[in-house]
Amino acid sequence: MSAGTATARTATASANSNIALIKYWGKTDDLLHLPTTSSLSLTLDETWTTTTVSFDGGADGQDVVTINGVGVEGTARERVHRFLSLVRERAGLGQDEAASVVSTSTVPLAAGLASSAAGFAALAGAASRAAGLDLDARALSCLARRGSGSASRSVFGGLVRWNRGTDDASSFAEPVPCALDLAMVVIALDAGAKAVSSTVAMRHTMRTSPLYPAWVEASAADLAEALEAAASGDLERLGAVAQANALGMHATMVAARPAVLYWRPGTVAVLHEVERLRRDGLPVWATMDAGPNVKVLTDTAHAGAAAEALAGLLPGASVTVRRGGEGIRYEQPGS
Ligand code: DP6
Repeated sequence: MSAGTATARTATASANSNIALIKYWGKTDDLLHLPTTSSLSLTLDETWTTTTVSFDGGADGQDVVTINGVGVEGTARERVHRFLSLVRERAGLGQDEAASVVSTSTVPLAAGLASSAAGFAALAGAASRAAGLDLDARALSCLARRGSGSASRSVFGGLVRWNRGTDDASSFAEPVPCALDLAMVVIALDAGAKAVSSTVAMRHTMRTSPLYPAWVEASAADLAEALEAAASGDLERLGAVAQANALGMHATMVAARPAVLYWRPGTVAVLHEVERLRRDGLPVWATMDAGPNVKVLTDTAHAGAAAEALAGLLPGASVTVRRGGEGIRYEQPGS
């Protein structure tokens, strides 16, 4: 393509991953990705995806997707293609104006470490700009949501609430006040691709788990409590409600028929160690997503000690400290 011409439709955006403290698990609308509950997350530093989208005809007139140098095929490519089709429609581009998408990601893909959140937020930013759409942050959050629900939150930095909303325009994320300097210790037991995707697992849980309605009902109060705790700087209250909400979400999965069990022996070992450390005075609480890995919520003052205590527990597990990170950013063309 003619990258140097004034008409080159190309843009580059980077977005960080986020980890929910109050979870999103289930949709009322599968097409629009409207969630059953509002959720709250921390955008992390040092885990991001950078994506360049060029409406350059793609390869043989088809959208072509490369992640970390490897061509993407199958359902993952189809998901990106559907998202690009939405952007083309919004921007008034022809559906024959295929794109090349080139991504680099520091997040292990599909391992319950929020790769789709960073991935679709960066894709939404780059694709919308490349297509000539000038979206404000809220509209961008709505667009990112159409790629992956949790991506709506990665548009923003720090602590972020995704309002579940009732339609496409009212289901967006926004930053919320936080008087704490939050950090997460990420214990990656197994960075391999997960057995069941979050999209599939949440649908199955909604349909078959008798515990699901109870979790949804508890979630509104959990969110209110978490927001208050964060705004008032109460780490203990925030940690306790975040852990309860995450384990409750996993309880809904375990009760699904058949069960969705992401836990491994190492997962349980980390959960017990977190309890022990907290009894010994460290402010640490666990949260988990659609995979076996555990993320430990604490503050920056205690993150180093928590990481050190958890590092020796499981041979082969990687333990890293993440602080709060920034929202979406763009590369200037030519820079
Ligand atoms: C467990 O955003 O990956 O991480 O909207 O179907 O793409 P889709 O699902 P996704 O689900 C994330 C679920 C979670 C909890 C959370 O991030 O809130």
